[in-house]
Amino acid sequence: MAEIVVEGGQRLTGEIPVSGAKNAALPLMVVTLLSSDPVTLTNCPDLHDIGTLSNVLHGHGTEIDASRIGAGSGAGLPVLRMHTPEIKSVRAPYELVSQMRASILVLGPLLARTGRAEVSLPGGCAIGSRPVDLHLMGLEAMGASIELRDGYVVAYTPQDGKSRLKGAKINFPKVSVGATENLVMAATLAEGRTEMFNAAQEPEVVDLCKCLINMGAQISGLGTSHLIIDGVDRLHGVEHQVISDRIEAGTFAVAAGITGGELILKNGHLEHLGALVAVLEASGTVCTQLDSGIHVVSAAPRPNGTNVTTEPYPGYPTDLQAQIMSLMTIATGTAVLTETIFENRYMHVPELIRMGADIDVDGRVAVVRGVDKLFGAPVMATDLRASASLILAGLVAQGETVVGDIHHLDRGYERIEAKLSAVGAKIERQG
Ligand code: UD1
Repeated sequence: MAEIVVEGGQRLTGEIPVSGAKNAALPLMVVTLLSSDPVTLTNCPDLHDIGTLSNVLHGHGTEIDASRIGAGSGAGLPVLRMHTPEIKSVRAPYELVSQMRASILVLGPLLARTGRAEVSLPGGCAIGSRPVDLHLMGLEAMGASIELRDGYVVAYTPQDGKSRLKGAKINFPKVSVGATENLVMAATLAEGRTEMFNAAQEPEVVDLCKCLINMGAQISGLGTSHLIIDGVDRLHGVEHQVISDRIEAGTFAVAAGITGGELILKNGHLEHLGALVAVLEASGTVCTQLDSGIHVVSAAPRPNGTNVTTEPYPGYPTDLQAQIMSLMTIATGTAVLTETIFENRYMHVPELIRMGADIDVDGRVAVVRGVDKLFGAPVMATDLRASASLILAGLVAQGETVVGDIHHLDRGYERIEAKLSAVGAKIERQG
């Protein structure tokens, strides 16, 4: 099985290109279900998750032109052309949905376009139970009937699928990126006005709304927690450029910090990094926006211990919690990390401890006492972002770190070993 081998101790310098955002590209792919015209995405990352969603969409009748997308090899195309002249099947099967939870995003668009949808429940996930109740609550508020049958969500619009969804007021009790995206897409083709309160404000949600607006949707309140969507009869085709990946950029910013390095993250947008910028600055790594991307430089000999609490955007992202923990393992002093978004998202902790880190976890709180040195070790990647945190730790550890189970990594990072080795890391993929 493939693994990544890192020899620690190199200071990273140079320029790294930031890829298109996985979490923006996935919902943007799903918009093809809302229109019978072609939808083209540029700056699409070449990742396994894109391939998985392509298979889901193919099952609904989408023709996709990007045969190499999903290879995860870097050979894929940045342009993804999709066309769904008609929906051939409204069923998203367990075999595909269970591979990637974001497949649940097809539910709202299928329902809005055809009046029916049958989507497998995604099931449990390594970083917590991750329910879909908010997605269902919103669609019910829009008039859908929903039944759970044999592990599937079976949903239909009034009059047994013959009427449209109806605009509604939706007040999210909790911020959910996926539920906001699902319901925004559904609302674009609903009858009347939908208002969402406590909606997610993540840059990926804004990117989705911009794409939908260019297809003819009427949406206001972008980037705020109050979205207003006036339903239209049809959406037309679009060509849209996927925003750059703030989580990948943030991971490389931490790589600069942890190696005492200096990087330019080409195409990166500082404002999308949210609270990471202040956390990095407090720890001794400074980020500034250039025309070409983000300049990151480590200004302290060792990072300062800095407390971090994950929150919905613009707060500190849960998808960068594992990475910042790696930085804190070698800090001077102690850092308290609090994970408020997902339970069970500390599975990288035992692996970091195997590398010499001093960490105690109690529920959602992790206390990281900085040590002088980490030591290379064989470690197992347990989820996507945890995999990245182990590579970051490997970059600074003394000796060799071998990260196994890297299929998680390939779900969300495009050629990470090639990008890091181009800026001076000793890292390679084996097997
Ligand atoms: C998205 C991102 C993921 C990121 C997460 C939080 C994609 C493809 N994935 O996931 O990388 O970690 O946002 O920023 O964009 N919840 C419910 N009921 C629901 C839906 C969610 O209780 O119906 C809970 C979840 O269990 C979690 C919290 O809400 O505790 C946030 O989840 P959500 O924002 O929905 O995450 P995803 O959209 O799945």
